[in-house]
Amino acid sequence: MERTYIMVKPDGVERGLVGEIIKRFEQKGYQLLALQLMTPSQQLLEEHYGDLAGKPFFPKLIKYMLSGPVVGMVWAGKQVVKTGRVMLGATNPLDSAPGTIRGDFCVDVGKNLCHGSDAVESAEKEIALWFPNGVASYKRTVESLIYE
Ligand code: TYD
Repeated sequence: MERTYIMVKPDGVERGLVGEIIKRFEQKGYQLLALQLMTPSQQLLEEHYGDLAGKPFFPKLIKYMLSGPVVGMVWAGKQVVKTGRVMLGATNPLDSAPGTIRGDFCVDVGKNLCHGSDAVESAEKEIALWFPNGVASYKRTVESLIYE
């Protein structure tokens, strides 16, 4: 089953939106495989956002991500990478449709609440980075009620 890395950023944790974000993925039918609250190191964040190292907003992004704990999760399911990003909304919350997490709960790109992997390959890389001890899978009995 396809997997993705979804992270509630420090503003989302502080604003008490962890449950709301988990709820949306649960209601959709996706399966929670891993969950952790942690305060990431600067090194971990710089690796996670390595592709953006040259961007002008990079230092501010790292500072924001260091401002408090984050909640990292692994979710599994059909097309969960792409659909997970649809559920999060556009990077800039002002471009995010109502009904998406960013569209419903935030306004600024530098405080956009959540992260979702942008491709299957980067999802697997991010899962390995944030969960270096591995992520187990488990069988759900509801599977036949979700998938045809
Ligand atoms: P990016 O990977 O482009 O977006 P996404 O998180 O939707 O995959 O950027 C990573 C984060 O960097 C983004 O969530 C918020 C921050 N960011 C800014 O602060 N300013 C910007 O102009 C952009 C493009 C991103």
